[in-house]
Amino acid sequence: MENTRQISEQQLKVIRESVDIVDIISGYIPLVSKGKSFFGVCPFHDDHSPSMSVSREKQIYRCFSCGAGGNVFTFVMNYENINFLDAVKLIAEKAGIPLQLQEYSAPRQKKFETYYEIYDLAHKFYQNNINTAMGKDAKSYLTNRGLGSDVIKEFEIGLSLKNAEMLTKLLQKKEYSAKELVKTGLVNENEKGLHDVFYNRIMFPLWNLEGKVVGFSGRIYQNQDTAKYVNTKETDAFKKGELLYNYHRAKNEARKVGQVIVMEGFMDVIRAYTIGVTNVVATMGTAVTKNQALLLKRMAKEVILCFDGDEAGAKATMACSNELLKIGVTPKIVRLEEQLDPDEYILKYGKNQFCRKLENPIQVMDFKLDYLKQKKDFNNGQDVTVYIRQVLTELEKMDDPVLKELTIQKLSSETHLDPTFLKSQMKKPEDTPVHVEKKEVTTKQNKYQQAEKNLIYYMLISPEVIQLYQKHITYMPTKIYRMLAIQIACYYKDYKFISVADFMTSIQNDETMCNALNEILKLDLKEEYTLEQIMDYIKTIHEYGIQFQCKRFQEMMQTEIDPMKKAEIGQKIIELRKSEMIR
Ligand code: UTP
Ligand code: MN
Repeated sequence: MENTRQISEQQLKVIRESVDIVDIISGYIPLVSKGKSFFGVCPFHDDHSPSMSVSREKQIYRCFSCGAGGNVFTFVMNYENINFLDAVKLIAEKAGIPLQLQEYSAPRQKKFETYYEIYDLAHKFYQNNINTAMGKDAKSYLTNRGLGSDVIKEFEIGLSLKNAEMLTKLLQKKEYSAKELVKTGLVNENEKGLHDVFYNRIMFPLWNLEGKVVGFSGRIYQNQDTAKYVNTKETDAFKKGELLYNYHRAKNEARKVGQVIVMEGFMDVIRAYTIGVTNVVATMGTAVTKNQALLLKRMAKEVILCFDGDEAGAKATMACSNELLKIGVTPKIVRLEEQLDPDEYILKYGKNQFCRKLENPIQVMDFKLDYLKQKKDFNNGQDVTVYIRQVLTELEKMDDPVLKELTIQKLSSETHLDPTFLKSQMKKPEDTPVHVEKKEVTTKQNKYQQAEKNLIYYMLISPEVIQLYQKHITYMPTKIYRMLAIQIACYYKDYKFISVADFMTSIQNDETMCNALNEILKLDLKEEYTLEQIMDYIKTIHEYGIQFQCKRFQEMMQTEIDPMKKAEIGQKIIELRKSEMIR
């Protein structure tokens, strides 16, 4: 485990114990206390009612709807989309614990290592090109657009050369295979061999949430008769629908000011930067996905959509608003006149006027009413009917009662129809049951696996149970529970105490084990237990083990041809059965 080598488990424990998970989580989402736990709306799925519980006692959280769960480190990692070490650093900072991490380097995800290496090389190559003689025209194109050296540097803008072999040659020298190169989306293969995908384009790096380069977008800058922008294809490391342009740079400012501004193009974002608006991200021209909506929800309380002023921009604003409303976020809208995009608007009207627009966004429902009213003639009964239907359909999608009521009032005054009548025309929302705890979808588990889970549950809270496990259980039949139990026992041996929250940290690199642990924690058993109860679990597990072995022997017997050996196996089965009766 790479990251635990940089900070000792002991240090992690100190950091974790120096904060209260309830305080930390309530810094991100509002929590209300109920009984022994605290509850909040889960930020990791489209939750409307509080499904996330946070336990002060155990210092863990879990969502009984989507299954997310963990300790304070996992929460911060997932909420902030940062890696484990960064989460530890952040919490240590909050707790005022000085952390000396010399030569600190984030643990990389091994499976993307080659991608990252190749993008790094390409990135350096492109960035260098723009500062050479070959980059003169590209640079003057950018300068003409008002983007100087400082912006080029800040956004790491580069250039792919006219010669479409340069990058390929450079990468081949590093001995990457053709297959690896083609996979990155930077190199293509045809009859003549390998060549660069990008040539003679201004190159904008695209970063993942952590700020690593995972792709590029290349723009034409001369009278070229091809697509304006070309992007690297999607790879395992780069999924357009899972990231937002400039996320890693914008997130801190967005949190600080409690607001994130969303634009369509990355030129818009870059322009906004030049006038000091830095809490801004771009969707890069595609329809906003649920994933991106959830990201925005976690960035800041207030989301402002400032898309292009044209019809396409209005349509995208509608779609994005709906995606946000679905997950309980009510965005505010800025519409730009004269079909301008933010970049053009800022150039034409300047910083002050643009900022005034940002400070006076319109309510999402007002925007929707305006949008639906377009090209409709209110003297025409047909048009009015269509309009009313469309507005009611929009209302059916929403669940903010206040916003609904306000919109009905508006619609009523526009159409002179009675609000009660309008409401009665809305489709009743399907009878959604008051939030019931979703039963986890588990494959039917037999009583044996239940016993394994129960035993582990109590091992996590009691050293006594760990000792009983060590004394009586030599083999847990289910592999994942076996590994978990062994880990718990090892943890106890090393630290002489057991705490779920710290144990979680020690296994946080092992996804399967984390999932199994979360599932066990969901059992929510009573804290108190009796010795008899524990011995009962142990007995059941033994029984399971014996059956398991019997089955194995029986299978062996069926394939065994040697009669002597067959008899031997038969004897073993009898002995096993006997031992079962003695217990
Ligand atoms: P726009 O066409 O609005 O580009 O597309 P823009 O931001 O105004 O760029 P400039 O000012 O002409 O340079 C918005 C976004 O859609 C994506 C890009 O991410 C762009 O930022 N796009 C656009 C493409 O991926 N391919 C294209 O051909 C065009
Ligand atoms: Mn533009």
